[in-house]
Amino acid sequence: MAKPISIQIWNPRGKYRVVSTKPMPGSRWIRLLTDHDCRLEICTEKKTILSVDDILALIGDKCDGVIGQESKTGLPFLFANSFHHHSTHQLPGDPLSIMDGGRWRLTVLTEDWGETLFSALSRAGGSAFSNMAVGFNNVDVKAATKYGVAVGNTPGVLTETTAELAAALSLAAARRVVEADMFMRAGLYDGWLPHLFVGNLLKGQTVGVIGAGRIGSAYARMMIEGFKMNLIYYDLYQATRLEKFVTDYGQFLQSIGEQLVTWKRAATMHDVLREADVISLHPILDKTTHHLINKDSLSIMKKEAILVNASRGPVIDEAALVEHLKANPMFRVGLDVFEEEPFMKPGLAEQKNTVIVPHIASASKWTREGMATLAALNVLGKIKGYPLWSDPNRVAPFLDENSQPPTACPSIVNGKQLGLTTSKL
Ligand SMILES: NC(=O)c1ccc[n+]([C@@H]2O[C@H](COP(=O)([O-])OP(=O)(O)OC[C@H]3O[C@@H](n4cnc5c(N)ncnc54)[C@H](O)[C@@H]3O)[C@@H](O)[C@H]2O)c1
Repeated sequence: MAKPISIQIWNPRGKYRVVSTKPMPGSRWIRLLTDHDCRLEICTEKKTILSVDDILALIGDKCDGVIGQESKTGLPFLFANSFHHHSTHQLPGDPLSIMDGGRWRLTVLTEDWGETLFSALSRAGGSAFSNMAVGFNNVDVKAATKYGVAVGNTPGVLTETTAELAAALSLAAARRVVEADMFMRAGLYDGWLPHLFVGNLLKGQTVGVIGAGRIGSAYARMMIEGFKMNLIYYDLYQATRLEKFVTDYGQFLQSIGEQLVTWKRAATMHDVLREADVISLHPILDKTTHHLINKDSLSIMKKEAILVNASRGPVIDEAALVEHLKANPMFRVGLDVFEEEPFMKPGLAEQKNTVIVPHIASASKWTREGMATLAALNVLGKIKGYPLWSDPNRVAPFLDENSQPPTACPSIVNGKQLGLTTSKL
Protein backbone atom coordinates (compact mmCIF):
# COMPACT_ATOMS: atom_id res chain seq x y z
CA MET A 1 0.00 0.00 0.00
CA ALA A 2 1.29 3.48 -0.82
CA LYS A 3 2.21 5.78 2.05
CA PRO A 4 -0.62 8.01 3.39
CA ILE A 5 -1.30 10.98 1.17
CA SER A 6 -2.29 14.50 2.11
CA ILE A 7 -5.97 15.43 2.11
CA GLN A 8 -8.13 18.41 2.91
CA ILE A 9 -11.40 17.63 4.69
CA TRP A 10 -14.65 19.57 4.36
CA ASN A 11 -17.73 18.99 6.53
CA PRO A 12 -16.17 16.20 8.63
CA ARG A 13 -19.55 15.17 10.09
CA GLY A 14 -21.17 14.61 6.70
CA LYS A 15 -23.03 11.32 6.25
CA TYR A 16 -21.70 10.44 2.80
CA ARG A 17 -17.97 10.25 2.22
CA VAL A 18 -16.92 11.67 -1.15
CA VAL A 19 -13.31 11.79 -2.31
CA SER A 20 -11.83 14.00 -5.01
CA THR A 21 -8.46 12.84 -6.32
CA LYS A 22 -7.48 16.47 -7.04
CA PRO A 23 -8.42 19.98 -6.00
CA MET A 24 -10.78 21.35 -8.68
CA PRO A 25 -11.43 24.97 -9.73
CA GLY A 26 -14.05 27.08 -7.99
CA SER A 27 -15.89 26.55 -4.72
CA ARG A 28 -19.48 25.89 -5.79
CA TRP A 29 -18.84 22.18 -6.28
CA ILE A 30 -17.59 21.96 -2.69
CA ARG A 31 -20.61 23.82 -1.36
CA LEU A 32 -23.04 21.64 -3.31
CA LEU A 33 -21.58 18.51 -1.77
CA THR A 34 -21.22 19.76 1.78
CA ASP A 35 -24.72 21.33 1.75
CA HIS A 36 -26.07 17.87 0.95
CA ASP A 37 -24.54 16.05 3.89
CA CYS A 38 -21.32 14.94 2.21
CA ARG A 39 -18.00 14.78 4.00
CA LEU A 40 -15.61 15.79 1.24
CA GLU A 41 -11.98 14.76 1.17
CA ILE A 42 -9.81 16.42 -1.45
CA CYS A 43 -6.42 14.91 -2.18
CA THR A 44 -3.89 17.74 -2.13
CA GLU A 45 -0.87 15.61 -2.97
CA LYS A 46 1.48 17.43 -5.35
CA LYS A 47 1.70 14.35 -7.59
CA THR A 48 0.43 14.95 -11.11
CA ILE A 49 -1.40 11.66 -11.41
CA LEU A 50 -2.26 9.32 -8.57
CA SER A 51 -1.36 5.64 -8.79
CA VAL A 52 -3.89 2.86 -8.26
CA ASP A 53 -2.39 2.29 -4.79
CA ASP A 54 -2.76 5.96 -3.92
CA ILE A 55 -6.41 5.88 -4.93
CA LEU A 56 -7.02 2.63 -3.04
CA ALA A 57 -5.68 4.37 0.06
CA LEU A 58 -8.02 7.30 -0.56
CA ILE A 59 -11.06 5.04 -1.01
CA GLY A 60 -10.33 3.22 2.25
CA ASP A 61 -13.05 1.15 3.98
CA LYS A 62 -15.97 3.50 3.51
CA CYS A 63 -16.47 5.68 0.47
CA ASP A 64 -19.71 6.62 -1.27
CA GLY A 65 -18.31 8.31 -4.35
CA VAL A 66 -15.14 9.52 -6.07
CA ILE A 67 -14.38 12.39 -8.44
CA GLY A 68 -11.39 11.51 -10.62
CA GLN A 69 -9.32 12.94 -13.43
CA GLU A 70 -8.55 11.92 -16.97
CA SER A 71 -5.23 12.99 -18.39
CA LYS A 72 -5.44 14.58 -21.83
CA THR A 73 -2.39 13.09 -23.47
CA GLY A 74 -4.37 10.25 -24.94
CA LEU A 75 -1.33 8.01 -25.34
CA PRO A 76 -1.57 4.82 -23.34
CA PHE A 77 2.14 4.13 -23.41
CA LEU A 78 5.00 5.75 -25.18
CA PHE A 79 8.68 5.59 -25.76
CA ALA A 80 9.50 9.16 -26.46
CA ASN A 81 13.07 8.95 -27.65
CA SER A 82 12.35 10.41 -31.03
CA PHE A 83 10.56 13.52 -29.88
CA HIS A 84 11.64 17.01 -29.27
CA HIS A 85 10.98 18.19 -25.75
CA HIS A 86 11.87 20.99 -23.42
CA SER A 87 11.42 18.62 -20.63
CA THR A 88 12.18 18.83 -17.04
CA HIS A 89 11.40 15.57 -15.29
CA GLN A 90 7.87 16.53 -14.52
CA LEU A 91 6.01 19.55 -15.73
CA PRO A 92 3.12 20.73 -13.60
CA GLY A 93 -0.04 19.19 -14.94
CA ASP A 94 1.78 16.84 -17.26
CA PRO A 95 2.57 13.17 -17.09
CA LEU A 96 5.67 11.94 -15.38
CA SER A 97 8.54 11.39 -17.79
CA ILE A 98 11.68 9.56 -16.80
CA MET A 99 15.01 8.98 -18.45
CA ASP A 100 15.29 5.31 -19.30
CA GLY A 101 18.57 4.18 -20.85
CA GLY A 102 19.00 7.52 -22.57
CA ARG A 103 15.40 7.60 -23.75
CA TRP A 104 12.52 9.55 -22.34
CA ARG A 105 9.70 7.35 -21.27
CA LEU A 106 6.27 8.35 -20.10
CA THR A 107 5.35 6.19 -17.17
CA VAL A 108 2.11 7.34 -15.62
CA LEU A 109 -0.38 9.00 -17.89
CA THR A 110 -3.74 8.89 -16.26
CA GLU A 111 -5.72 7.59 -13.30
CA ASP A 112 -6.41 3.98 -14.08
CA TRP A 113 -10.06 3.31 -13.23
CA GLY A 114 -10.47 -0.42 -13.84
CA GLU A 115 -11.38 -3.66 -12.07
CA THR A 116 -9.13 -3.00 -9.03
CA LEU A 117 -10.49 0.43 -8.19
CA PHE A 118 -14.14 -0.24 -8.96
CA SER A 119 -14.17 -3.43 -6.90
CA ALA A 120 -12.54 -1.53 -4.02
CA LEU A 121 -15.05 1.31 -4.33
CA SER A 122 -17.92 -1.15 -4.34
CA ARG A 123 -16.51 -2.96 -1.26
CA ALA A 124 -16.33 0.43 0.47
CA GLY A 125 -20.07 0.89 -0.21
CA GLY A 126 -19.56 3.29 -3.14
CA SER A 127 -21.73 3.47 -6.25
CA ALA A 128 -20.64 6.72 -7.89
CA PHE A 129 -17.62 7.86 -9.86
CA SER A 130 -17.24 10.86 -12.13
CA ASN A 131 -14.35 12.11 -14.19
CA MET A 132 -13.90 15.87 -14.35
CA ALA A 133 -13.66 15.48 -18.15
CA VAL A 134 -15.80 14.72 -21.16
CA GLY A 135 -13.58 11.82 -22.13
CA PHE A 136 -13.36 8.59 -20.17
CA ASN A 137 -10.46 6.77 -21.83
CA ASN A 138 -9.10 6.15 -18.34
CA VAL A 139 -12.22 4.26 -17.26
CA ASP A 140 -13.14 0.63 -17.82
CA VAL A 141 -16.88 1.29 -18.00
CA LYS A 142 -17.68 -2.45 -18.20
CA ALA A 143 -15.86 -3.07 -14.92
CA ALA A 144 -17.69 -0.13 -13.31
CA THR A 145 -21.04 -1.49 -14.47
CA LYS A 146 -20.15 -4.96 -13.16
CA TYR A 147 -19.66 -3.45 -9.69
CA GLY A 148 -22.76 -1.28 -9.94
CA VAL A 149 -20.79 1.95 -10.11
CA ALA A 150 -22.14 4.84 -12.20
CA VAL A 151 -19.54 6.60 -14.38
CA GLY A 152 -20.11 10.32 -14.89
CA ASN A 153 -18.53 12.74 -17.35
CA THR A 154 -18.92 16.47 -18.00
CA PRO A 155 -20.10 17.37 -21.52
CA GLY A 156 -21.95 20.53 -22.50
CA VAL A 157 -19.55 23.16 -21.14
CA LEU A 158 -16.62 22.98 -23.54
CA THR A 159 -18.04 24.06 -26.87
CA GLU A 160 -17.82 27.87 -26.79
CA THR A 161 -14.57 27.96 -24.81
CA THR A 162 -12.83 25.59 -27.22
CA ALA A 163 -14.20 27.41 -30.26
CA GLU A 164 -12.97 30.73 -28.85
CA LEU A 165 -9.45 29.36 -28.52
CA ALA A 166 -9.58 28.14 -32.13
CA ALA A 167 -10.65 31.66 -33.10
CA ALA A 168 -7.79 33.11 -31.02
CA LEU A 169 -5.30 30.84 -32.78
CA SER A 170 -6.75 31.83 -36.17
CA LEU A 171 -6.30 35.52 -35.42
CA ALA A 172 -2.89 35.10 -33.84
CA ALA A 173 -1.66 33.15 -36.88
CA ALA A 174 -3.32 35.49 -39.41
CA ARG A 175 -1.85 38.61 -37.84
CA ARG A 176 1.44 37.04 -36.70
CA VAL A 177 0.80 38.11 -33.11
CA VAL A 178 3.29 35.74 -31.50
CA GLU A 179 6.13 36.51 -33.92
CA ALA A 180 5.53 40.22 -33.43
CA ASP A 181 5.37 39.84 -29.65
CA MET A 182 8.72 38.03 -29.59
CA PHE A 183 10.24 40.71 -31.83
CA MET A 184 9.03 43.44 -29.49
CA ARG A 185 10.30 41.68 -26.36
CA ALA A 186 13.66 41.14 -28.01
CA GLY A 187 14.00 44.94 -28.30
CA LEU A 188 14.14 44.77 -32.10
CA TYR A 189 11.47 47.38 -32.82
CA ASP A 190 13.00 50.64 -34.01
CA GLY A 191 10.12 52.29 -35.82
CA TRP A 192 7.07 51.71 -38.03
CA LEU A 193 7.77 50.04 -41.34
CA PRO A 194 5.38 49.32 -44.21
CA HIS A 195 6.44 45.65 -44.35
CA LEU A 196 6.68 44.85 -40.67
CA PHE A 197 4.70 41.68 -39.86
CA VAL A 198 2.25 41.98 -42.68
CA GLY A 199 -0.38 39.26 -42.30
CA ASN A 200 -3.78 38.28 -43.70
CA LEU A 201 -7.03 40.24 -43.55
CA LEU A 202 -9.83 37.84 -42.67
CA LYS A 203 -12.80 39.96 -43.74
CA GLY A 204 -14.32 38.64 -46.94
CA GLN A 205 -12.02 35.59 -47.03
CA THR A 206 -13.19 32.00 -46.75
CA VAL A 207 -13.11 30.01 -43.53
CA GLY A 208 -12.98 26.24 -43.96
CA VAL A 209 -14.26 23.98 -41.21
CA ILE A 210 -13.54 20.27 -41.18
CA GLY A 211 -15.96 18.62 -38.78
CA ALA A 212 -18.91 20.97 -38.29
CA GLY A 213 -20.17 19.42 -35.05
CA ARG A 214 -20.65 21.35 -31.81
CA ILE A 215 -17.27 23.08 -31.67
CA GLY A 216 -16.76 23.39 -35.44
CA SER A 217 -20.17 25.07 -35.83
CA ALA A 218 -19.56 27.45 -32.90
CA TYR A 219 -16.17 28.38 -34.37
CA ALA A 220 -17.69 28.92 -37.83
CA ARG A 221 -20.28 31.30 -36.37
CA MET A 222 -17.58 33.30 -34.57
CA MET A 223 -15.55 33.73 -37.72
CA ILE A 224 -18.60 34.58 -39.80
CA GLU A 225 -20.15 37.01 -37.32
CA GLY A 226 -16.86 38.48 -36.18
CA PHE A 227 -15.02 38.80 -39.47
CA LYS A 228 -17.70 38.44 -42.14
CA MET A 229 -15.99 35.43 -43.65
CA ASN A 230 -17.64 33.07 -46.10
CA LEU A 231 -17.94 29.43 -45.05
CA ILE A 232 -17.00 26.19 -46.71
CA TYR A 233 -17.30 23.07 -44.58
CA TYR A 234 -16.87 19.35 -44.79
CA ASP A 235 -18.64 16.91 -42.51
CA LEU A 236 -20.16 13.49 -42.97
CA TYR A 237 -23.49 15.05 -41.97
CA GLN A 238 -25.24 18.18 -43.09
CA ALA A 239 -24.89 21.04 -40.58
CA THR A 240 -28.42 22.29 -41.15
CA ARG A 241 -28.57 24.78 -38.29
CA LEU A 242 -25.24 26.29 -39.23
CA GLU A 243 -26.30 26.64 -42.87
CA LYS A 244 -29.53 28.34 -41.81
CA PHE A 245 -27.62 30.69 -39.52
CA VAL A 246 -25.30 31.80 -42.35
CA THR A 247 -28.21 32.26 -44.75
CA ASP A 248 -30.14 34.38 -42.23
CA TYR A 249 -27.07 36.33 -41.20
CA GLY A 250 -26.18 37.01 -44.83
CA GLN A 251 -29.68 38.35 -45.44
CA PHE A 252 -29.40 40.56 -42.37
CA LEU A 253 -26.07 41.97 -43.59
CA GLN A 254 -27.59 42.70 -46.98
CA SER A 255 -30.56 44.40 -45.35
CA ILE A 256 -28.19 46.90 -43.71
CA GLY A 257 -26.28 47.46 -46.93
CA GLU A 258 -23.29 45.27 -46.14
CA GLN A 259 -21.80 42.52 -48.22
CA LEU A 260 -23.46 39.09 -48.12
CA VAL A 261 -21.76 36.12 -46.44
CA THR A 262 -22.24 32.70 -48.00
CA TRP A 263 -21.92 29.02 -47.12
CA LYS A 264 -21.03 25.92 -49.07
CA ARG A 265 -21.06 22.27 -48.02
CA ALA A 266 -18.07 20.67 -49.77
CA ALA A 267 -18.39 17.26 -51.37
CA THR A 268 -14.88 16.33 -50.26
CA MET A 269 -12.43 17.54 -47.67
CA HIS A 270 -10.03 18.41 -50.47
CA ASP A 271 -12.45 21.05 -51.77
CA VAL A 272 -12.19 22.77 -48.40
CA LEU A 273 -8.41 22.57 -48.41
CA ARG A 274 -8.19 24.00 -51.93
CA GLU A 275 -10.63 26.88 -51.42
CA ALA A 276 -10.31 28.10 -47.84
CA ASP A 277 -7.95 30.78 -46.55
CA VAL A 278 -8.28 29.68 -42.93
CA ILE A 279 -8.91 26.01 -42.17
CA SER A 280 -9.86 24.83 -38.72
CA LEU A 281 -10.02 21.14 -37.78
CA HIS A 282 -12.83 19.99 -35.48
CA PRO A 283 -13.56 16.34 -36.22
CA ILE A 284 -13.49 13.56 -33.69
CA LEU A 285 -10.32 11.45 -33.75
CA ASP A 286 -10.86 8.02 -35.22
CA LYS A 287 -9.42 5.87 -38.01
CA THR A 288 -10.97 8.08 -40.67
CA THR A 289 -9.47 11.30 -39.30
CA HIS A 290 -6.04 10.05 -38.19
CA HIS A 291 -3.48 12.00 -40.31
CA LEU A 292 -6.31 13.64 -42.22
CA ILE A 293 -3.79 16.42 -42.79
CA ASN A 294 -0.68 14.89 -44.33
CA LYS A 295 1.89 15.68 -47.02
CA ASP A 296 -0.66 15.32 -49.83
CA SER A 297 -3.44 17.32 -48.23
CA LEU A 298 -1.01 20.09 -47.22
CA SER A 299 0.22 20.31 -50.79
CA ILE A 300 -3.20 21.32 -52.13
CA MET A 301 -3.73 24.13 -49.61
CA LYS A 302 -3.05 27.74 -50.55
CA LYS A 303 0.56 28.80 -49.96
CA GLU A 304 -0.59 31.52 -47.54
CA ALA A 305 -3.32 29.50 -45.85
CA ILE A 306 -3.75 29.29 -42.11
CA LEU A 307 -4.32 25.91 -40.47
CA VAL A 308 -5.71 25.59 -36.95
CA ASN A 309 -6.04 22.47 -34.83
CA ALA A 310 -7.81 22.43 -31.48
CA SER A 311 -9.31 18.95 -31.98
CA ARG A 312 -6.86 16.09 -31.39
CA GLY A 313 -3.16 16.03 -32.27
CA PRO A 314 -3.06 12.89 -34.44
CA VAL A 315 -5.48 14.46 -36.94
CA ILE A 316 -2.31 16.09 -38.34
CA ASP A 317 0.81 14.24 -39.50
CA GLU A 318 3.03 16.59 -37.52
CA ALA A 319 6.32 15.60 -39.19
CA ALA A 320 4.81 16.38 -42.61
CA LEU A 321 3.52 19.68 -41.22
CA VAL A 322 7.01 20.69 -40.04
CA GLU A 323 8.37 20.06 -43.55
CA HIS A 324 5.53 22.06 -45.07
CA LEU A 325 6.09 24.98 -42.69
CA LYS A 326 9.79 25.03 -43.55
CA ALA A 327 9.12 25.06 -47.28
CA ASN A 328 6.28 27.62 -47.11
CA PRO A 329 7.16 30.48 -44.76
CA MET A 330 3.86 32.30 -45.41
CA PHE A 331 1.80 29.22 -44.51
CA ARG A 332 0.91 29.54 -40.85
CA VAL A 333 -0.43 27.21 -38.23
CA GLY A 334 -2.10 27.53 -34.82
CA LEU A 335 -1.93 24.40 -32.67
CA ASP A 336 -3.48 23.57 -29.31
CA VAL A 337 -2.90 19.82 -29.60
CA PHE A 338 0.06 17.72 -30.70
CA GLU A 339 0.47 14.29 -32.17
CA GLU A 340 2.41 12.86 -29.25
CA GLU A 341 1.61 15.11 -26.34
CA PRO A 342 3.27 16.52 -24.37
CA PHE A 343 6.03 16.37 -26.99
CA MET A 344 6.38 18.18 -30.28
CA LYS A 345 7.92 16.79 -33.44
CA PRO A 346 11.47 18.05 -34.05
CA GLY A 347 11.58 21.42 -35.75
CA LEU A 348 8.06 22.56 -34.92
CA ALA A 349 9.00 24.91 -32.09
CA GLU A 350 11.77 26.49 -34.18
CA GLN A 351 9.41 27.54 -36.97
CA LYS A 352 8.35 31.19 -36.80
CA ASN A 353 5.14 30.51 -38.69
CA THR A 354 3.63 28.57 -35.78
CA VAL A 355 1.49 29.56 -32.84
CA ILE A 356 1.65 26.79 -30.26
CA VAL A 357 -0.20 26.52 -26.96
CA PRO A 358 -0.31 23.62 -24.45
CA HIS A 359 -3.79 22.09 -24.85
CA ILE A 360 -5.59 25.01 -23.22
CA ALA A 361 -8.66 25.13 -25.45
CA SER A 362 -11.06 24.29 -22.62
CA ALA A 363 -9.18 26.39 -20.06
CA SER A 364 -11.67 29.13 -19.27
CA LYS A 365 -12.73 29.73 -15.68
CA TRP A 366 -16.39 29.21 -16.58
CA THR A 367 -15.75 25.89 -18.28
CA ARG A 368 -13.39 24.46 -15.70
CA GLU A 369 -15.64 25.45 -12.78
CA GLY A 370 -18.61 24.09 -14.72
CA MET A 371 -16.82 20.77 -15.21
CA ALA A 372 -16.11 20.57 -11.46
CA THR A 373 -19.77 21.31 -10.68
CA LEU A 374 -21.05 18.69 -13.11
CA ALA A 375 -18.64 16.04 -11.80
CA ALA A 376 -19.70 16.74 -8.21
CA LEU A 377 -23.39 16.64 -9.17
CA ASN A 378 -22.96 13.33 -10.99
CA VAL A 379 -21.58 11.80 -7.81
CA LEU A 380 -24.09 13.52 -5.51
CA GLY A 381 -27.03 12.61 -7.76
CA LYS A 382 -26.10 8.92 -7.80
CA ILE A 383 -25.58 8.83 -4.03
CA LYS A 384 -28.99 10.43 -3.52
CA GLY A 385 -30.66 8.13 -6.04
CA TYR A 386 -31.62 10.92 -8.44
CA PRO A 387 -32.58 10.01 -12.03
CA LEU A 388 -30.51 10.81 -15.12
CA TRP A 389 -30.78 14.22 -16.78
CA SER A 390 -32.47 13.82 -20.16
CA ASP A 391 -29.93 15.74 -22.28
CA PRO A 392 -26.31 15.81 -21.05
CA ASN A 393 -25.47 18.56 -23.53
CA ARG A 394 -28.10 20.91 -22.11
CA VAL A 395 -26.60 21.51 -18.70
CA ALA A 396 -27.27 25.23 -18.12
CA PRO A 397 -29.75 24.57 -15.25
CA PHE A 398 -26.96 22.87 -13.28
CA LEU A 399 -24.63 25.84 -13.68
CA ASP A 400 -26.85 28.67 -12.50
CA GLU A 401 -25.15 29.94 -9.33
CA ASN A 402 -28.36 31.57 -8.13
CA SER A 403 -30.57 28.53 -7.97
CA GLN A 404 -30.50 24.98 -6.72
CA PRO A 405 -29.50 22.53 -9.45
CA PRO A 406 -32.11 20.05 -10.74
CA THR A 407 -32.40 16.83 -8.75
CA ALA A 408 -30.80 14.72 -11.47
CA CYS A 409 -27.39 13.32 -12.46
CA PRO A 410 -26.15 15.60 -15.30
CA SER A 411 -24.33 12.90 -17.32
CA ILE A 412 -23.84 9.21 -16.53
CA VAL A 413 -22.36 7.20 -19.39
CA ASN A 414 -23.47 3.76 -18.18
CA GLY A 415 -26.89 4.88 -16.91
CA LYS A 416 -28.79 2.57 -19.26
CA GLN A 417 -26.67 -0.46 -18.39
CA LEU A 418 -27.31 0.22 -14.70
CA GLY A 419 -31.05 0.52 -15.36
CA LEU A 420 -31.23 4.12 -14.05
CA THR A 421 -34.36 6.06 -14.92
CA THR A 422 -34.41 9.35 -16.80
CA SER A 423 -35.66 12.56 -15.25
CA LYS A 424 -38.90 14.09 -16.49
CA LEU A 425 -37.53 17.59 -15.79
N1 LIG B 1 -8.48 20.98 -27.50
C1 LIG B 1 -9.33 20.71 -26.54
O1 LIG B 1 -9.09 20.96 -25.36
C2 LIG B 1 -10.65 20.08 -26.89
C3 LIG B 1 -11.77 20.33 -26.07
C4 LIG B 1 -12.98 19.74 -26.42
C5 LIG B 1 -13.07 18.93 -27.55
N2 LIG B 1 -11.96 18.72 -28.32
C6 LIG B 1 -12.02 17.90 -29.55
O2 LIG B 1 -12.72 18.66 -30.52
C7 LIG B 1 -13.30 17.76 -31.48
C8 LIG B 1 -14.74 18.17 -31.77
O3 LIG B 1 -15.53 18.07 -30.60
P1 LIG B 1 -17.11 18.31 -30.67
O4 LIG B 1 -17.60 18.37 -29.27
O5 LIG B 1 -17.43 19.41 -31.60
O6 LIG B 1 -17.55 16.92 -31.33
P2 LIG B 1 -18.85 16.63 -32.24
O7 LIG B 1 -19.06 15.16 -32.15
O8 LIG B 1 -19.97 17.55 -31.88
O9 LIG B 1 -18.34 17.03 -33.71
C9 LIG B 1 -17.44 16.26 -34.45
C10 LIG B 1 -17.86 16.32 -35.90
O10 LIG B 1 -16.85 15.67 -36.69
C11 LIG B 1 -17.55 15.03 -37.76
N3 LIG B 1 -16.71 14.01 -38.37
C12 LIG B 1 -16.48 12.75 -37.99
N4 LIG B 1 -15.65 12.13 -38.85
C13 LIG B 1 -15.34 13.04 -39.80
C14 LIG B 1 -14.54 13.03 -40.96
N5 LIG B 1 -13.90 11.91 -41.32
N6 LIG B 1 -14.43 14.14 -41.68
C15 LIG B 1 -15.10 15.27 -41.32
N7 LIG B 1 -15.89 15.34 -40.24
C16 LIG B 1 -16.00 14.25 -39.49
C17 LIG B 1 -18.79 14.47 -37.10
O11 LIG B 1 -19.78 14.14 -38.06
C18 LIG B 1 -19.19 15.62 -36.19
O12 LIG B 1 -20.08 16.53 -36.81
C19 LIG B 1 -13.12 16.37 -30.91
O13 LIG B 1 -12.00 15.78 -31.52
C20 LIG B 1 -12.82 16.62 -29.45
O14 LIG B 1 -12.05 15.58 -28.90
C21 LIG B 1 -10.76 19.29 -28.02
